[in-house]
Parts: sequence; C-alpha cells; structure tokens
Amino acid sequence: MTSDKELFDRAVAVRAQAHAGYSGFKVGAAILDADGAIWIGCNVENAAYPLGACAEAGAISAMVAGGGRRIRRIAIVGGRDELEKCPPCGGCRQRIAEFATPETRVVLFESSGEPCEFEIGALLPLSFALRDGGQ
Ligand code: THU
Repeated sequence: MTSDKELFDRAVAVRAQAHAGYSGFKVGAAILDADGAIWIGCNVENAAYPLGACAEAGAISAMVAGGGRRIRRIAIVGGRDELEKCPPCGGCRQRIAEFATPETRVVLFESSGEPCEFEIGALLPLSFALRDGGQ
C-alpha cells in the first residue's frame, strides 16, 4: 500500500528537476494510479511564458503514455525556496478530473509536511465531461 509519505517523497524529488527559472516556483506531482503504479511530473516553463506546462500535466502525460488511465491519488508539492501548500490550478483540476474516479484524492502538504486531502469533486464541482468519457 503506497503511503502519502511515499508520494510526498516522490513529488519532492521530481520537483527538484523543475525548469522554473522564470517564476522561481517549482512544483512536483506524483500520481498513484489504479494499478498501483506511480507517475511523476514537474513544471517546465518556457521563455515564451504561456507555453509553460504544469507539474500535474507532466505526471498525467507520463501516466497515459505508460498505459495508466485512472488516478487514485495525486500528491502535489510546490514553492519558491520553502515548500508551501500548493493547490492545483483550475486547468489542472480539469486535467485531473478527466482521469478521476469517485475515490480520487488530491493530497496537498502544509509547509510542515503534514498532508491534507481533498476529493477532486470538492476542488472542481460540476466539472465538464463528455458523456462518452473520451475512451
Ligand atoms: N504550476 C504548476 O506546475 N501546477 C499548478 O497547479 C499551479 C502552477 C506552475 C506553473 C508555473 O510554472 C509555476 O507553477 C508558477 O505559476
């Protein structure tokens, strides 16, 4: 059973790889998928600012490319120098919802490392979805 601590450690480790010199705000995300696999991503910024990609988007791309389709839990960490609580942006809430199940939890961390958990449905009520689910 993968613990929040394990996901936190994976997110912290990948955050160190972030390419975030423009904002100075590094983010790491670690997904536990429905099969128990872990997928990670960090934010990748660009000199053309709007082209930057969020950490969650990178982790979701890795999951999908690796054959995963369901997010059971996603841990997100971010901050400039120190870690601070880093809720996913609106776009990433929609990205997570695309691969969510009723059990999907978003796990954020206080600066102390203490986890705080949210259901994706609470972070993005009434999310947009197509009836066929994009299968
Ligand atoms: N960022 C993420 O990676 N995920 C989010 O959910 C919010 C913001 C990144 C984007 C940008 O590289 C930096 O944090 C500052 O906005």
